[in-house]
Amino acid sequence: MRVKAIDEFVASFVLYLQQQPSNADIEKAIHAAERFLSDDSMVRSEEVKPALAPVTRWLTPSLNDAKLAGNSHSHLAPFCQHTEAVLPHCPWTPGYDEAVVGAEFKQHFAYAVLVGDGGIVPCDYFAAGITLIGPDFFYDWHHHPAIEIYMNLTDNSLWGLNNGPLTEKRVGEIITHPSEVSHAMFCKTAPLLAPWLWAGEVNVPAAMC
Ligand SMILES: [Fe+2]
Repeated sequence: MRVKAIDEFVASFVLYLQQQPSNADIEKAIHAAERFLSDDSMVRSEEVKPALAPVTRWLTPSLNDAKLAGNSHSHLAPFCQHTEAVLPHCPWTPGYDEAVVGAEFKQHFAYAVLVGDGGIVPCDYFAAGITLIGPDFFYDWHHHPAIEIYMNLTDNSLWGLNNGPLTEKRVGEIITHPSEVSHAMFCKTAPLLAPWLWAGEVNVPAAMC
């Protein structure tokens, strides 16, 4: 059986992307998402259960900030509602190998895979999830072969691409990370909440640079 809240989250993300300036990677992500939404073979895993992480203590305040911003942004409010609706399903995990990132990492970082490898709905051509980073924690430079489209839900957050300078993004901005291009994220004053879509080689995990 499919998970209605996840389908609605993905559909809402696609709708939002269709109202923004586009690029080739966004088009590929939309195409993969639409394939997923119309794929009758997609069913939820029996093994993946909801789980919290130390950083999820920031989840409610970060979403409340996003919803507040969404009130003055007509296309963002419904997406915030669909993000909130998937939270009870989320299997939050710090993901990375502790031997690589250090023991402190899992106190400040987690993501939840809704669709994709190891996610609630396994899929080998598309992935969707949410990343949450505690305040004043630098999510260091990393890369992966999948195309990644982020929705930024945190005001004053800083995003870097290809080891370049970090630039500030506003709530509702879309950030594209092309395949294998390194990227990093940071917010000093607030938890950074950022839903994402992956397309392409979605079964290869991210690796630190
Ligand atoms: Fe990434």
